[in-house]
Amino acid sequence: MRVFIIGITGGVGSRLARTLQERGDTVSGLVRRSDQRERLRTAGIEARVGDLTTITPDDLAGLMRDVDAIAFTAGAGGGGHDATSAIDRDGVIKTITAARIAGVARIGLVSVFPEAWRERNLGAGFDHYIAMKKEADIALTQSGLDWIVLRPAVLLDDPGRGTVALGPAELHGEITRQDVADTLAALLHEPRISRQILELNHGDAWIEEAVETNIRAA
Ligand SMILES: NC(=O)c1ccc[n+]([C@@H]2O[C@H](COP(=O)([O-])OP(=O)(O)OC[C@H]3O[C@@H](n4cnc5c(N)ncnc54)[C@H](OP(=O)(O)O)[C@@H]3O)[C@@H](O)[C@H]2O)c1
Repeated sequence: MRVFIIGITGGVGSRLARTLQERGDTVSGLVRRSDQRERLRTAGIEARVGDLTTITPDDLAGLMRDVDAIAFTAGAGGGGHDATSAIDRDGVIKTITAARIAGVARIGLVSVFPEAWRERNLGAGFDHYIAMKKEADIALTQSGLDWIVLRPAVLLDDPGRGTVALGPAELHGEITRQDVADTLAALLHEPRISRQILELNHGDAWIEEAVETNIRAA
């Protein structure tokens, strides 16, 4: 499978790239700077330079015309109100448009639990982040594409456990970025998982089993 990752230099995106490569996939992705492209080249990844906030949908489509699936793992990461709108919502909408132009149907989106940390009253910026993520989910789920929305719990940099809780509704706890990457890779590889929103928390099911459990009866 040829997978284009938007957010490939990030915590989840870089792990996803490695996992997919280990599965034998061809990985490419979007980076903002040419030094990032050179670094990825040494790892066998063909990165293409562009900024999600300024690139046109046509140009983005041109960067991913030769792929089977897109993984969107980018995020503004607390970069402010406008950046959050531009990346976490508008970046996804632009990716949907570009995917249609490029003829790529399959998209896996890393989103967030809508109720994540709401009890902490983290302020307007965090509320805006949650709202933008939800708008992105709405855009993708109404796109008619072959989509998957994956909503991970709070992300940790600890080593992956290899086991998770994955389903349409899960408790919001913590999950390692490695387990998110491994789960998304497994989901992208399972064509019977399509047009599903799946929440992801730490848990006891091996990732491949957890994915299989979510295959809906035909
Ligand atoms: N943190 C949490 O607990 C949590 C929980 C649930 C879901 N999430 C979501 O999970 C996803 C992955 O999180 P993460 O921690 O792995 O993210 P991250 O490490 O902050 O990575 C963000 C990625 O987005 C890229 N990016 C940002 N602005 C861009 C732009 N204008 N053009 C192109 N690329 C751009 C970054 O590129 P650069 O390297 O150039 O900056 C980086 O590759 C995010 O969508 C996040 O919202 C996070």
